[in-house]
Amino acid sequence: MKILITGGAGFIGSNFIRHIISAYPDYSIINLDKLTYAGNLENIKDMENHPDYRFIKGDICDRHFLGSLDFNAIINFAAESHVDRSILDSFPFLQTNVIGVQNLLEAAKIRGCRLLQVSTDEVYGSTEKGLSTEESPISPNSPYAASKASADLLARAYHKTFGMDVLITRCSNNYGPYQFPEKLIPLVISHALAGRPIPVYGDGKNVRDWIYVLDHCRAIDAVFHRGNAGEVYNAGGKNEVQNIDIVKRLLTLIAEKTGRDKESLMDLITFVNDRPGHDRRYAIDPSKIEGELGWTPETGFEEGLANTVDWYLSHQTWWERIISGEYMDYYKMQYKERFGE
Ligand code: NAD
Ligand code: DAU
Repeated sequence: MKILITGGAGFIGSNFIRHIISAYPDYSIINLDKLTYAGNLENIKDMENHPDYRFIKGDICDRHFLGSLDFNAIINFAAESHVDRSILDSFPFLQTNVIGVQNLLEAAKIRGCRLLQVSTDEVYGSTEKGLSTEESPISPNSPYAASKASADLLARAYHKTFGMDVLITRCSNNYGPYQFPEKLIPLVISHALAGRPIPVYGDGKNVRDWIYVLDHCRAIDAVFHRGNAGEVYNAGGKNEVQNIDIVKRLLTLIAEKTGRDKESLMDLITFVNDRPGHDRRYAIDPSKIEGELGWTPETGFEEGLANTVDWYLSHQTWWERIISGEYMDYYKMQYKERFGE
């Protein structure tokens, strides 16, 4: 099996490559990544010299380039992934998340090979009551979510029209090692350690269903190997938490692990203007993947959060390098209005 993994220099893709190479020693992996602001070869440095791993810098929007590669399956992680950035500028989201996926579908069609599209629970929109199942209507609310939903619809259409072997996973909020510091959990950790204000959007009571990244990787593994063509599989942690609770739990952990004063850390919490179109709650039902494929999350939230804080404490140079570069320009642009400046 020669798998083309796209976006493997990002957060989930890099964790997945490490997982698949150790779980399937007879596979060979091509990691194709454009190395956008979110792609970082340091995330996957330990695989650099592995005989079954090869990195290629490239863009999934470049269909001729895709045609030159040799593979017999695709798992697509490549995306513009941050909701707030899609509000500032949606163009790169439509390019990569829609046109890029169309190119990958075409490349899979030519080879007659399996393609797994890594999607998100955000395509269901805000789930005010109950849980979203794979049958729930698609109702995306941010440009990011709309671009991911568009890709899901394209993947579905290629399965129906061309009988292609396409699978879709829709996962909830991931956390863990190598997550880019723009996302809530690493942002809170890095701001707390630097003594900077911690921006909490709106009233802080929005709910997300958090899952440890390695559990998501195991879900993709299960769907890729045992899923049925044309099907969608939700993967979630059954772990709904309000944002403000996460922030407080993280600050408590940081105080315990570093000896910093907990009250001073809590004083950093700053309620700021809300994200436009901010979905109130995501909550998905993972019964299908659990029942049909025998997958279930293995890492509890307390354990996963503690691992994550430990990882960011012991990889300070990794995230300090990121937030000292052009990231700060983005941060100022994004948060100026949020802080009411
Ligand atoms: P990320 O932003 O950390 O990584 C994205 C990677 O894609 C980067 O390495 C980037 O360089 C690469 N990339 C971007 N545009 C590209 C292009 N045109 N060609 C090739 N490579 C390109 O994202 P992530 O959090 O690891 O998310 C991975 C996937 O999982 C995305 O599709 C996202 O929608 C989905 N997802 C994420 C979460 C989450 O909580 N982070 C949850 C569910 C689903
Ligand atoms: O649900 C899956 C999705 O989870 C993925 O598809 C996306 O790629 C991923 O980015 C994530 O989207 P969210 O918007 O939920 O993640 P984010 O970390 O940006 O925000 C989590 C929650 O925290 C959300 O309710 C907004 C809030 N938030 C976020 C930031 C960055 C804050 O209150 N303050 C912040 O500074």
